[in-house]
Amino acid sequence: MVFDEGLAGRLDAMYQTRDMVRRRRLARAALGAAPGEHVLDVGCGPGFYVAELLEEVGAGGRVVGADASPAMLALASRRCADRASAGFLAADATSLPVADAGFDAALCVQVLEYVPDVAATLAGMHRVLRPGGRLVVWDIDWSTVSWQSRDPARMERVLRTWDAHLTHPSLPRTLSSRLRSAGFTDVGVAGHAFVSTGADPEGFGGSLIPLIERFVAGRDGISADDARAWAQEQRQLGADGEFFFCCVQFCFTGARPFHGH
Ligand SMILES: C[S@@+](CC[C@H](N)C(=O)[O-])C[C@H]1O[C@@H](n2cnc3c(N)ncnc32)[C@H](O)[C@@H]1O
Repeated sequence: MVFDEGLAGRLDAMYQTRDMVRRRRLARAALGAAPGEHVLDVGCGPGFYVAELLEEVGAGGRVVGADASPAMLALASRRCADRASAGFLAADATSLPVADAGFDAALCVQVLEYVPDVAATLAGMHRVLRPGGRLVVWDIDWSTVSWQSRDPARMERVLRTWDAHLTHPSLPRTLSSRLRSAGFTDVGVAGHAFVSTGADPEGFGGSLIPLIERFVAGRDGISADDARAWAQEQRQLGADGEFFFCCVQFCFTGARPFHGH
């Protein structure tokens, strides 16, 4: 998936919906940013977390967002234009251009699942945290998607094709051990179900419909008409009161130990 201007604009709208607001509340609670802290948001996207974390760290703190997509960074810096304690970096998650041990906390929400070299990214986040610094990593296990359809075979085909939109469709299964291997301690995880019974975009499932339709059309033998019919069925299920979507998203926490590497 290419995080270009078109997708950045679609995600900017999606991130204002109810389930995404809930996700940010959960991730920010897990991070527990305090006044005066310096926080790094790796893969900051359109900058919603940066804007909200700035409220938590206050005037004495600083929040830096890093992202590889110029379109995302443009939205993020516009969102935080009037905030002196916000900073943005055009950077790949695997090679963060920031000094060692400069941050109290780091956040990486639904980014690692797109990054081929997870180990290098975790090592970089470990490096930039001060001893005792906290990390929150949030990813989705896309194999947990449970999605009602009157055509289960077509749904299966669409979801398998959608798996190709990212590098690691089930990254949470290995994240605890990857975090420990990267040197993090106190590794914990919480699973959060995102369930909706309406096809409207306020729920995560409903908001995925146009993204998936666009991505799968023309791939793996799925025509634009097939993709449209799949999306139309979901809207019809919504209209008939039969829509059901659920997936589990995982919030991992860890810390850079005070002693050791
Ligand atoms: C699904 S969006 C999540 C954005 C943000 N973390 C949020 O939850 O609001 C994924 C973001 O990761 C960024 N990204 C993907 N691969 C990256 C990489 N290798 N280095 C830096 N950013 C990357 C994309 O540009 C995009 O902004």
